[in-house]
Amino acid sequence: MVNKILIVYYSLTGNTHLIAEAIKEQTGAEVERLKPIKDLDSESRTRFFWGGMHAKMKHKPKLEPLEYDPIDYDLIFLGTPVWAWTLTPSIRSYFKMNDLSNKNLAIWNCAGGNGVKAMKRLKKELQNCNIVGENIFSEPLKNNPDAEVKRAKEWAAEIIKSL
Ligand SMILES: Cc1cc2nc3c(=O)[nH]c(=O)nc-3n(C[C@H](O)[C@H](O)[C@H](O)COP(=O)(O)O)c2cc1C
Repeated sequence: MVNKILIVYYSLTGNTHLIAEAIKEQTGAEVERLKPIKDLDSESRTRFFWGGMHAKMKHKPKLEPLEYDPIDYDLIFLGTPVWAWTLTPSIRSYFKMNDLSNKNLAIWNCAGGNGVKAMKRLKKELQNCNIVGENIFSEPLKNNPDAEVKRAKEWAAEIIKSL
């Protein structure tokens, strides 16, 4: 039985946010949106270069203060965009700040191309966790947003039912 659910995510251009909102609607979970103190400009043309470099270098930017302690939760939905075929720097910062060992985690990513490799890399960072589900979305803001929101809600419901 799952009592307390937390959603943790980073989103630069809104796709991961869309899925987080769908999961929130489905589950009533609390939401921690990660915000680096210095984020990229979501409209800048150089964002791919800088963001890709930070992701590749496994940078861990300083985040704005967190509101929730993951220790208090039975299940955490964790979402990241794919940058340079891996997870985003803010998610790495979160991992450094919090011990998620043995936590139930349902993870998703949002990719522009293919999120499979990034999912593998994300799971590698979470070897001490209990991964209870995983899902990949392909820029849901522009690719069938309604269907993708529905898919996210069904996924979240299924996970909760399985625990
Ligand atoms: C810095 C940067 C690097 C990216 N690198 C990749 C990539 O390697 N592979 C991919 O499929 N999509 C890549 N994308 C596209 C994003 O993963 C995709 O647009 C995602 O839906 C963005 O999520 P968001 O809107 O929540 O920020 C990249 C986007 C940015 C800004």
